[in-house]
Amino acid sequence: MRSPLVATTLSLTALTTAQNTTSAASASPSSTASYVNPDVPTGVPIVGDYDGQYRPQVHFSPPEHFMNDPNGMFLDDNGTWHLYYQYNPTGLVAGNQHWGHATSKDLYHWENQPIALFPPANDTFVFSGSAVTDPNNTSGFFPNQTNGVVAIYTLAQYFPTEPGPQTQAIAYSLDGGYSFIPYEGNPVIPSESSQFRDPKVIWYEDHWVMSVAYPHDFAIGIFTSPDLKEWTATSNFTHHGLLGLQYECPNMVRMPYMDEDGERQDDMWLMYISINPGAPVGGSIGQYFPGTFNGTHFEAVDAVARIADFGKDNYAGQFFYGLPEDELPVSIAWASNWQYTNLVPTANEGWRSAMSLPRRNYLTKTERIGWKLISEPYDLSPVIGRALAANETMGNGSTTVDFSQVDSNAVYWEANVTGIPDSGIPASATLNFTFLSPQSGEFVRGGYYFGGDNPFFVDRGGANGFDNVFFTDKFSTNSLITGDTWSMSGVMDRSMLEVFVNGGVDSASNTFFTTQPLTYLIVSAGDLVEGMEVSVRVHALESAWASMADEDDGLVYGNQTSSIGQEKMRRFLGAF
Ligand SMILES: *[C@@H]1O[C@H](CO)[C@@H](O)[C@H](O)[C@H]1NC(C)=O
Ligand SMILES: *[C@@H]1O[C@H](CO)[C@@H](O)[C@H](O)[C@H]1NC(C)=O
Ligand SMILES: *[C@@H]1O[C@H](CO)[C@@H](O)[C@H](O)[C@H]1NC(C)=O
Ligand SMILES: *[C@@H]1O[C@H](CO)[C@@H](O)[C@H](O)[C@H]1NC(C)=O
Ligand SMILES: *[C@@H]1O[C@H](CO)[C@@H](O)[C@H](O)[C@H]1NC(C)=O
Ligand SMILES: *[C@@H]1O[C@H](CO)[C@@H](O)[C@H](O)[C@H]1NC(C)=O
Ligand SMILES: *[C@@H]1O[C@H](CO)[C@@H](O)[C@H](O)[C@H]1NC(C)=O
Ligand SMILES: *[C@@H]1O[C@H](CO)[C@@H](O)[C@H](O)[C@H]1NC(C)=O
Ligand SMILES: *[C@@H]1O[C@H](CO)[C@@H](O)[C@H](O)[C@H]1NC(C)=O
Ligand SMILES: *[C@@H]1O[C@H](CO)[C@@H](O)[C@H](O)[C@H]1NC(C)=O
Ligand SMILES: *[C@@H]1O[C@H](CO)[C@@H](O)[C@H](O)[C@H]1NC(C)=O
Ligand SMILES: *[C@@H]1O[C@H](CO)[C@@H](O)[C@H](O)[C@H]1NC(C)=O
Repeated sequence: MRSPLVATTLSLTALTTAQNTTSAASASPSSTASYVNPDVPTGVPIVGDYDGQYRPQVHFSPPEHFMNDPNGMFLDDNGTWHLYYQYNPTGLVAGNQHWGHATSKDLYHWENQPIALFPPANDTFVFSGSAVTDPNNTSGFFPNQTNGVVAIYTLAQYFPTEPGPQTQAIAYSLDGGYSFIPYEGNPVIPSESSQFRDPKVIWYEDHWVMSVAYPHDFAIGIFTSPDLKEWTATSNFTHHGLLGLQYECPNMVRMPYMDEDGERQDDMWLMYISINPGAPVGGSIGQYFPGTFNGTHFEAVDAVARIADFGKDNYAGQFFYGLPEDELPVSIAWASNWQYTNLVPTANEGWRSAMSLPRRNYLTKTERIGWKLISEPYDLSPVIGRALAANETMGNGSTTVDFSQVDSNAVYWEANVTGIPDSGIPASATLNFTFLSPQSGEFVRGGYYFGGDNPFFVDRGGANGFDNVFFTDKFSTNSLITGDTWSMSGVMDRSMLEVFVNGGVDSASNTFFTTQPLTYLIVSAGDLVEGMEVSVRVHALESAWASMADEDDGLVYGNQTSSIGQEKMRRFLGAF
């Protein structure tokens, strides 16, 4: 399984076992044709069982089968968030890539939609890319509408034993992003290279700008276009930061900058590059570069490699297109790692991989190290449930919560620490959280040291449901205290743990796999000095997926004609 092909997001095992090689469907070279494997459902959402022991309840995961990178994310004029994703609709490992699709009004309650993009031929896959709305009809695809959507993606051809050319193609949607028509002039950027992919397009003043990876050359190409069809290569951003073995999934986006006093300054630009393999803790990770952009060239402020997440399950992050400039950019990443994604035990439940929580992002300058991308959960209130515990004055004590009666088996917690002195804090002064399974004794935990160089750790080594030499079990970062306060928050969601240190200055996304559910939380502090105070609050999370499930069979049908499903959906949407 550890072939280089896995790293290029295709498993040949998946290809040969999942594709129906006896199919008589046409592989016509016509660029608008789609090859539809008879095993792949069209026009209807795929039904999912979202109640397995490992199924996240407030994170997005596909109804069944294998998912990887988020793609094509945009916010439409009706306030609907569109998430597309790399999807293998016929297997539980990477391969046979289509674009799955889901929509949401709040980024937590997702409605599964029919598969949106199909490959043009049986030896070609639809790899990662982006989507934009074209209200001015710059593309000419939308003479009579302002809600036209254009998807820009990589077509990756596969020869029997090796990757073939990767080219950039576009498809347009007349129905607001639910179905797409491939452009007859594809590819819009031809190439003979098997290493040229993941176009991310934005609008800059008066033209379109694409960033796209030349993975093995460690280069991000910047192309410009007036119409999304004719593209001109204008510059390359190369050999910055960590190289690993390849660059993937670039995002070049406008990024707000809040100074140390929280005042918004002139926007910066951000170049976000995923590397795989080659993360400091192994495998897949994202790194970013603050900088400036003048319409054709991106220039980083310095040569520093800044890592986006200190956990191990946060890759291929993408920023939504279409947000107003006064709002903070919102991103979602794939919460897995190519080192083990094809092996994790969620396959027993018929699915693999979830997305990270949606995050709001901005740049700031932090103590000593300067530029830092802050990443916080997008407004969680649509899924925040009842308070399970609260203590404003915990001090050197602990708060314990038995949440075995919480249906979702998912919780949110936060802790604020005040009155932190400049000096005199012993190395043993700590604030920890531990999630436990009383049945099996399994645990995941983390915590912060207020003394020394302020390490924060996360430990998933107490979970016994999965073992693999690459499934690293402990992570840490050093997160300095600024001023006299400090905070942490996090979400534990069945098999996902995401923590946010000091308001998102540092964050970590980690999957974990226990044999028994975690149902008990302990937050404890020790050896804090006189004057330091701790306030803690723990909330149940309301399952977004259970609220979508059919009352009779418990399955989630997505956007389909089941009258029960439609009625539930109407009632649910009415709540907004
Ligand atoms: C693809 O289609 C061609 C032409 O119909 C056929 O010869 C070939 O075996 C098919 N390959 C796969 C992988 O299905
Ligand atoms: C492949 O497709 C053919 C024709 O549609 C069908 O008869 C056959 O059962 C399929 N094979 C598999 C393994 O799904
Ligand atoms: C659309 O046209 C308006 C008015 O000319 C312009 O300000 C805006 O930048 C254009 N946006 C896009 C995405 O074409
Ligand atoms: C949209 O573009 C098409 C093709 O260029 C053109 O025929 C049509 O007039 C345009 N419509 C508008 C409203 O600009
Ligand atoms: C756009 O609207 C005009 C006027 O209603 C109509 O004649 C034309 O066929 C429409 N074009 C498309 C592509 O729908
Ligand atoms: C918004 O919703 C209306 C009514 O459902 C629909 O006609 C319109 O196309 C939608 N707009 C977008 C941008 O999808
Ligand atoms: C960018 O780098 C690629 C890969 O090395 C190269 O093929 C291309 O010509 C370069 N483009 C520019 C504008 O320098
Ligand atoms: C953008 O920056 C590049 C490199 O510094 C420069 O060559 C180019 O002229 C600049 N373009 C504009 C519009 O300022
Ligand atoms: C808060 O914690 C303190 C010290 O750990 C304890 O004495 C107190 O009873 C707790 N209060 C509540 C409301 O649980
Ligand atoms: C927090 O965890 C660390 C590492 O296990 C441990 O040394 C420390 O005593 C713990 N602190 C508290 C208050 O439980
Ligand atoms: C922590 O501080 C934040 C920001 O001031 C506040 O909104 C939140 O309610 C506090 N939480 C607790 C548990 O004190
Ligand atoms: C269901 O999907 C169709 C396209 O497949 C779309 O036009 C329609 O708006 C969707 N309905 C709902 C309620 O989202």
